[in-house]
Amino acid sequence: MTVQHPRAIERLVAGQATSDGAGVKLTRVLTQNLQHRLDPFLMLDAFGSDNPDDYIAGFPEHPHRGFETVSYMLSGRMRHRDSAGHEGLVTDGGVQWMTAARGVIHSEIPQQTEGRMEGFQLWLNLHSSEKMGAPWYRDIQATDLPKVTTAQGVQLTVIAGESHGTVGAVQREKTQPLYLDVHMPAASTFSQPLPATHNAFIYVYRGEVLVGEKTVPAQRMAIFSNDAASDGVTINASADAKFLLIAGKPLKEPIVQYGPFVMNSQQEIYQALSDFRDGVLGAA
Ligand code: FE2
Repeated sequence: MTVQHPRAIERLVAGQATSDGAGVKLTRVLTQNLQHRLDPFLMLDAFGSDNPDDYIAGFPEHPHRGFETVSYMLSGRMRHRDSAGHEGLVTDGGVQWMTAARGVIHSEIPQQTEGRMEGFQLWLNLHSSEKMGAPWYRDIQATDLPKVTTAQGVQLTVIAGESHGTVGAVQREKTQPLYLDVHMPAASTFSQPLPATHNAFIYVYRGEVLVGEKTVPAQRMAIFSNDAASDGVTINASADAKFLLIAGKPLKEPIVQYGPFVMNSQQEIYQALSDFRDGVLGAA
């Protein structure tokens, strides 16, 4: 598992404070202007608050079409219901993976009135041939997520892809996503081989890490360069640090987003809007 030619950091991104749903405060880390640079990833939201006013309203019923949403809850409880008849509770350390494909209408409502709510939602694009496929959904409890500890004592949760001989909870052929939650102890190093053409970034949420000579502080995304001679990423931590490492194979297709719909053309967006208006989107 050695990396000889690690990638450098191309840029750091702070994200934008915003609110979504019925007024949930969050930071949009991966914004729309980065969708081509970070293809196949369309969005990453980070939320974290001890104040119920920031999250209590949740995300009432809303539609999606054309991509997948991956919700990773570090702490808190959120109930999910959708038009395909799925229902589940995402709780501390759990993941909900939803493939909206041709359409779901769903709600995500907090099941707590106090305490901390913290986590992430990632949007992963679908290939044009899969955008109108059948919706799919899976809840994965924290205890069912594959985990591995490296020789350096780095603890990995493998949500998607594969790392250090451990296969993640979800695999996708077209986008080959790697989604790791990485917990580094003080004075440790972590390496992950990656194809040079895959787009990759980290989001640090506790402490800070070092990539080459560059420090990545908490609440920052670092986008890795796609150096053709590189074979992966290497990250160092002098003190305890936690981050997400996300990478995937770009689809290299047109991206047309209108709110919760992400398709390949304007015409397909009009179709999504009319299907939603006519009650066809999300119908069984
Ligand atoms: Fe949603």
